[in-house]
Amino acid sequence: MTTTTSAPAAPDLHPLLSERWSTRAFDPEHQLDDETAGRLLEAVRWTPSASNTQPWRVALALRGTPEHEVLFGTLMGFNTAWAAGASALVLVAAERTTPEGKDLRWADLDAGQAVAHLTVQAAAEGLVVHTMGGIEVERVREAYEVPAGVEPLVVLAVGRQGDLSVLDEKTRRRELERSRRPLSELVLPLRGASA
Ligand SMILES: Cc1cc2nc3c(=O)[nH]c(=O)nc-3n(C[C@H](O)[C@H](O)[C@H](O)COP(=O)(O)O)c2cc1C
Repeated sequence: MTTTTSAPAAPDLHPLLSERWSTRAFDPEHQLDDETAGRLLEAVRWTPSASNTQPWRVALALRGTPEHEVLFGTLMGFNTAWAAGASALVLVAAERTTPEGKDLRWADLDAGQAVAHLTVQAAAEGLVVHTMGGIEVERVREAYEVPAGVEPLVVLAVGRQGDLSVLDEKTRRRELERSRRPLSELVLPLRGASA
């Protein structure tokens, strides 16, 4: 079973971070139990947020359920090619404006952080997560009661790492060839420092 990646993740990071990657090879036999699913949602619930506004909204659907079929139907084609093997899909939305009309400036950041918390909790449970922005937002709105001011952002594919040999050659290569910008490109210099 080929479950490792040649990705050059920094070896001195915590393994929950350094050993993570966005796999497309899920184990289609794996079932996510209710307790584990509940802990993933607790990880979302205990995410920090601006003024503790908790603007994330989620919906978790286990593979094999009618809700999963509906949520799977919101994925764009390039994601349906591989996401069927994931044990669960999790819709994540952000409340950008409250029912009272207050704009929550950090809603997307908070929801993104909730995704990160779920991802790390999943890694600690021996699971893997692949975030997908490639969703049909209108289909999500048709299928779920999404209040005004709430924006569907991503669907997460959650499951157990599967055998990379199920992937076609091109997808397998994408899986193994990971790259990142050097830190020097990420650091903002002080104004005038580069002159
Ligand atoms: C907001 C967001 C949206 C993404 N959307 C997709 C997607 O629709 N389909 C896909 O295959 N990967 C998607 N990804 C995965 C990224 O391509 C991936 O995280 C990135 O290439 C880095 O690879 P790594 O996660 O393996 O380190 C998305 C990731 C994020 C954070």
